[in-house]
Amino acid sequence: MNGAWAPDSTGAGRGHEAPVRAVHAPSPTSEGTTDGIAVDGESIEAVIAWFAEAGRDLPWRHEGVSTWAILVSEVMLQQTPVVRVLPRWQEWMRRWPAPSDLADAPTAEVLRCWDRLGYPRRALRLQECARVIVREHGGSVPRGEQALRALPGIGEYTAAAITAFSHGERAVVVDTNIRRVLARSVRGRALPDRSYSAAERAVATASLPVSRERSTAWNQAVMELGALVCTARAPRCEQCPLADRGCAWFAAGRPAATEDTRRRQAFEGTDRQMRGTIMAVLRRDGSAAQHQLMALDAEDAERVQRGMRTLVADGLAVRDGTSLRLP
Ligand code: ADE
Repeated sequence: MNGAWAPDSTGAGRGHEAPVRAVHAPSPTSEGTTDGIAVDGESIEAVIAWFAEAGRDLPWRHEGVSTWAILVSEVMLQQTPVVRVLPRWQEWMRRWPAPSDLADAPTAEVLRCWDRLGYPRRALRLQECARVIVREHGGSVPRGEQALRALPGIGEYTAAAITAFSHGERAVVVDTNIRRVLARSVRGRALPDRSYSAAERAVATASLPVSRERSTAWNQAVMELGALVCTARAPRCEQCPLADRGCAWFAAGRPAATEDTRRRQAFEGTDRQMRGTIMAVLRRDGSAAQHQLMALDAEDAERVQRGMRTLVADGLAVRDGTSLRLP
């Protein structure tokens, strides 16, 4: 194993880690010394072959889809499942097929059309992104991860995904699904680290095929494997092309997550839920009297007030006398 890549030496480990191990021998399709930290070439090909059989026919994966359409899909998919994104993405593309269309749209319409995708600041950022693309890039999405990351709302993941899936270039794409597949198959853990760590980045980088064409196929296939087979709660290992190719987690008897990597996902009663409820009223009616909104939680007036205040601070709502309205 190359010590410089091991989790403990990156500072991202927690001392009690299982050793990082390979799904097989070092990958002949990856760069540098990848002993012990990468998915091997045969396993990569098996995942790509699995995708050819089992991958979903999603519209943003079709030939000829614009970079803008892919950018919008990636932002929508960041925190929302595919089934909920599909109809919203189709509607957005019908209304705003190019950055200049979204740049010129009324913001209230943009938020209405975001509907219940959640985290609606993403919609505001997409409109800002469209405006910057028009202003600084002549209306075309720029190429290259650095230029993409300079756009509002485009982070490491989205810039890499656009580079790989639209421009067909080599990029280390790492979403939650890919992190889980690599955590299990290479590192033998039920779940990835709490936040994206240097050790995880090293595994993802070392596993990426060198060839442009194989790298984009791998990115797409491993993401889909995490979405459909190597799922968080009920993994379908019997369908997995990696199970009998040395998946470290499967080989270890699928050990449970440790206490500090388990996710808690309380939503009921949270401020986020209240913000969503207020936004649903504003999308439906355009505006609402503040006393009407106070009735949304008669037992916790402060929670409603926090919801209203933070929505205004985020630019998702505007105070208008004694009412709140969409911007
Ligand atoms: N294809 C490309 N990116 C995707 C994503 N984020 N989720 C599902 N399928 C995708």
